[in-house]
Amino acid sequence: MKILTVFGTRPEAIKLFPLLHALRDDPRFESRVCVTAQHREMLDQVLAFAGIVPDHDLGLMRDRQSLDTLNARILVEVGGVLEAERPDWVVVQGDTTTAFAAALAAHYHRIPVCHVEAGLRSGDLANPWPEEMNRRAIATFAALHCAPTGLAADNLVRESIERERIHITGNTVIDALLWARERVREAPESTRIMRELERRFEGRRIVRISAHRRENFGHMREIASAIRRLSQRDDLAIVFPVHRNPAVRDVMQVELSGLDNVALIDPLDYPNFVRLLDIAHLMLTDSGGVQEEAPALGTPVLVMRETTERPEAIAAGTARLVGTDPERIVNEVTRLLDDSETHAAMASAHNPYGDGQAASRICDLLKEAPR
Ligand code: UD1
Ligand code: UDP
Repeated sequence: MKILTVFGTRPEAIKLFPLLHALRDDPRFESRVCVTAQHREMLDQVLAFAGIVPDHDLGLMRDRQSLDTLNARILVEVGGVLEAERPDWVVVQGDTTTAFAAALAAHYHRIPVCHVEAGLRSGDLANPWPEEMNRRAIATFAALHCAPTGLAADNLVRESIERERIHITGNTVIDALLWARERVREAPESTRIMRELERRFEGRRIVRISAHRRENFGHMREIASAIRRLSQRDDLAIVFPVHRNPAVRDVMQVELSGLDNVALIDPLDYPNFVRLLDIAHLMLTDSGGVQEEAPALGTPVLVMRETTERPEAIAAGTARLVGTDPERIVNEVTRLLDDSETHAAMASAHNPYGDGQAASRICDLLKEAPR
């Protein structure tokens, strides 16, 4: 059975490499890989770490390109790859423009789509934008929905998706995290960047920041002002790997350069990121993946958004929604720094997202599920 997996951004690569490893090692499958390269450097970091060599690299990233242009280019270029490969399944992951446009191309070519990380919903089309639309649209025509949790599966049932096509597999991000932790343990030199930062900030607690959601672009200065205020504490160091999107980078470089205990750094490769996750006192983020990884390692997460499609971590008490108001951000971070009981309550490791076996479950489903 021939499987074509299509992805383009950093989080898709992280969440799909365990499946690509499993497909490669399973004689039942011929696995082909197509990257749109919606991201370039941030995608290549993951491909190199995971040892994935794409069969098709569409090289579609352009600086600051609009969503309509990106979408149209992916649709046409992936269509060409589908013509050439004629796979039995197309696998896409999550809710990016690559996932949506590649799935749509497969639908137009009458090739069944397997959606990995299906069923996440915030209930608000504006938040996250455009991701909530992308994932809802994929669900309307996917043939196989791999839901990471029971709540995600329930969302799909509510949308009248046939129950036999919905399976709870766990989230492949846990497979990726466990695999990466093992590599980091075997090769401590793979986390050199973080170890140097740990030496530089010895004796301080580390807060890890990330921000990149499009609906937060208008709030980047507010987020920066909260970080500036927090950086005045001398028991604290801030590690901020800045997303390559110019809408984020340009603001943060102007607002946060030159502060002694703020490390504004390039995006970390996955081993260094996993090390940061392990040692951070807390994470302040609007990222999706971080909301899944941090609870698994017992790191509290403050989510700079008004809604989330990952209610499991909120329910477990390991994550809190704090929005983007600087006053609120500073108060919530301060509470976690100064009140050890609150921190301890949020830091109890809890993992609602899987057992590290999601990829092998998805392999079995690809073999057995009706197309
Ligand atoms: C995309 C996804 C978002 C996902 C995020 C993960 C969409 C609409 N958005 O957002 O769902 O959460 O990736 O990070 O699919 N850039 C580089 N180098 C890179 C990557 C990006 O220079 O390696 C710059 C380019 O100027 C690019 C811009 O960032 O045009 C935006 O990239 P894009 O993929 O459109 O959006 P993200 O904000 O990264
Ligand atoms: N990540 C990384 N290096 C970094 C920051 C993040 O490897 O410097 C990883 C991390 O595993 C995170 C994933 O990239 O879960 C998701 O990236 P991002 O926040 O860009 O996307 P989202 O999950 O919000 O779609």
